[in-house]
This record gives sequence, C-alpha cells and structure tokens, in this order.
Amino acid sequence: MSSALDPFAPAKLGRLELKNRIMKAATFEGMTPNGVPGERLRNFHMGIAEGGVGLTTISYCTTEADGRIMDSMMWLHEGIEDELGSLIEEIKTTGVKVSGQVTHCGHFSQNKNLQRDQPPKGPSKMFVGIGLTVGRPVAQAMDKGDIKHLIDTYGEAAAFMKRVGFDAMEIHFGHGYGLSQFISPKTNKRTDEYGGSHEKRMRLPLECLAAARKAVGPDFPILGKISMTDAVKGGITYDQGIEVAKSLDAAGIDGLIPSAGTSSYNSMYLFRGQSIAKGMAAMATGSGAKLLYKLMGPLMWKTYPYEPTFFLDASKRIKASVSCPVIYVGGVSTRADIDRVFEAGFDFVQVGRPLLKDPKFVKNAQKYSDYDSGCTHCNFCVPLIQHPDGIRCVLNDKTEKAYETAQ
Ligand SMILES: Cc1cc2nc3c(=O)[nH]c(=O)nc-3n(C[C@H](O)[C@H](O)[C@H](O)COP(=O)(O)O)c2cc1C
Ligand code: SF4
Repeated sequence: MSSALDPFAPAKLGRLELKNRIMKAATFEGMTPNGVPGERLRNFHMGIAEGGVGLTTISYCTTEADGRIMDSMMWLHEGIEDELGSLIEEIKTTGVKVSGQVTHCGHFSQNKNLQRDQPPKGPSKMFVGIGLTVGRPVAQAMDKGDIKHLIDTYGEAAAFMKRVGFDAMEIHFGHGYGLSQFISPKTNKRTDEYGGSHEKRMRLPLECLAAARKAVGPDFPILGKISMTDAVKGGITYDQGIEVAKSLDAAGIDGLIPSAGTSSYNSMYLFRGQSIAKGMAAMATGSGAKLLYKLMGPLMWKTYPYEPTFFLDASKRIKASVSCPVIYVGGVSTRADIDRVFEAGFDFVQVGRPLLKDPKFVKNAQKYSDYDSGCTHCNFCVPLIQHPDGIRCVLNDKTEKAYETAQ
C-alpha cells in the first residue's frame, strides 16, 4: 500500500490547520500600485481561495521600501495596515490560510525612488545588469551597519505580518534576491564573517530567520524558498543547495520550498517553457530597459524546455536531507503531476502558473483523475508583472487581440 499523503485531505503545517496540502506559490501579482494593496489584489486572491487551495501566498512583500525592485511592489509597514488587514481577513473567511512571501531585492533594484541607498547595496561591490536600466550599473557593498539594519527589517516585517493577520510567512532565500546574494559565492565575495565558507555565507540569512522567529514566536509557521542551485557558473551547485537546506532545517524553519535559478542571471531555469525575452521588452517602460532587453533578452532569458514536475529529482534529494516538511514547486499542472509529487513522498505542493490558468485547479483536480489545467507554459503571464493591471493568464482572455497585446 502507498504511504503517500492525500493531497486533498486536511493537513497541519506546524500548528496551522490547512484544508488540504495544495498551496498557491508566490507569483508577484503586480497589483499593488505604489505599494498599496487594493481591490485588484483582493479579487485575485479571493478567486484563488474560492478555487479550493489550502493556503494562498501574497507575493513579494518586502521588508522595507528599498527592498522593492519596482515601486509597484508592496513593502510591509504600518501605512498599509488597514488595507492589508482587511484583505487578509476577507480571504480567511473562505477557510483558506494566508501566507506572505517576505523578501528584499538587495543589489537587484530598478526602483528609481530609493530612499536609503543610492545605488542599491548587496554583499559586495559589483556590476549589476538590471541597474543599467536606471543608470546605476554598479551596486555597493553593505557595511556592518547596513547588515544590522537589514536583519532588523526582517524582525519588524515578521512582527507586522503576525499583527496584520497573516497565518504564515515565507522567507525568500533564493532566486538571486537579497538573502540569496549572500548565500551565493557568485555574488558574495566578502572576506569578513559574512562571506567565504558556507557557514559564513549563511550567517546573514540565518540571522534574518532568527530575527523573524524572535518576532513571531514558535507557533507561527516560517517557510523558506530556496534555490537548490543558482545554475550559473560560480553560483551554488545542487550539492551546495543541500547544505543550504540543511542549515535552514537545523535553524528551525517550518518548511522548505526548493526551487532553483536566479531572476538576475537565468530566470527561465525556474520557469521552463517559452522565453520571456520578447514580453519583457514589450512591457519595459523606460527606453534603456527596452533596448537592454531587446539586445540581451535572448541571453538573459534563454529557453529551458518544459517537463512536468521538472524539479522532482533534485527536490527529492532535499527531502531526503532534512527533517522539516518539504513543499514541492515546479511544473505541477495536471492531476497526474500532483499524484507523482505525493507518491515521491513530499508533504505539500505549491502551484504557480496553473492556478493563474485555472483558479479552480484544486477543485477540478480532485474531481477529475485526468485533469489538466491547460497551462501551456507559454510564460506570457510573467512579463505582465509590469502591466498596470498585473498578471493574468492570457489564454483566458476573450479576444485574440488581448492575447496579442499581452506579448
Ligand atoms: C507571474 C509569475 C510571478 C512570479 N513571481 C514570483 C515571486 O514573486 N516569488 C517567487 O518566489 N517566485 C515567483 N514566481 C515563480 C513561482 O513561484 C514558481 O516557482 C514557478 O512559477 C514554478 O512553478 P509553476 O510551474 O507551478 O508555475 C513567479 C511565477 C510567475 C508565473
Ligand atoms: S499565460 Fe497562462 S498558459 Fe501561459 S504560462 Fe501563464 S498561466 Fe500558463
């Protein structure tokens, strides 16, 4: 008899009760103009919640204003407490739990309205391609004061999240953003206690986790999304990714979400499917960004063919190396994909694009054993993070015209 967990049965994440084991993955919605959550973000998550997931994730919430890549991202602060609090409360009336992905872009910012650091800072002084689009191609190195400040922002953001009604938080340790810049030897060239060996490169991420834990206490689930590999020369390898997972597990993380790749060097590695180069150039607002994406797009977003459950084998190695729950993400688009993930022994699954294509993914997958969400992995939804109306699945658009303009 199979020992696989039932994806559709109630489950517990730490002490948090979920109606099933299927979660909405963080997909930056692009629905927080000037960083403020409103009606559009509400409608998006209500649609997902009503479709039957156990937990939805409000994406890319930054620990401070300068943690945003674009000023259309939301940062966690008192100024949005009422809007965010009522949005979360309403989603929770559906019985669905609400998590928020917490992050900081580090040196990887296109935000013209930076308040603290001009240019942005990361572990080490270096050229950062995305900075070219706003005339700031070189990021500076953080000093000890900057590091302390960043750790404090994680503690403050976590306390705010608990207060405002989130049920859980997901710290982003991957994809080339701030904490991942410290984890990766490609971007971390420091020679002090925050760079060099695995232990030293993990120091800041672990201190941010500890600050968040101190703020929320032991019963509030903290998940961690990691890159199992940066998949670029000089970055972390799959073997090193296992050590990252082990360190977070030992530090008391409540669940790990293994992804891979970096948004800065090769984001197609985490998506697979059709390249987003054309769409990114079409969506870019400034002429600098348009030109950069046109010229460099095919290199920045090189194509990796899509395969169902494309991170399964690598994620199984993570699952075998840690004791905390592991939440599989990447290429779960059909009922057969769900079954394969749970047969492989995972505790939960996160779903990104297929839930944009079909918000009723969970209800339909439960009902039909041959269910297919219909997501084609065309990735036209991805550049729409920069669209004024935010993301959507263009295959759901009523007219051909809308489909073309989305590209
Ligand atoms: C439009 C879009 C935006 C995304 N934004 C984020 C994000 O803000 N944070 C993150 O960790 N992953 C982000 N992702 C990646 C997804 O969480 C997920 O790892 C990836 O899409 C693979 O899962 P899937 O095959 O179920 O879509 C995004 C994906 C999409 C399609
Ligand atoms: S636009 Fe729709 S079909 Fe294409 S990848 Fe996004 S969700 Fe899937």
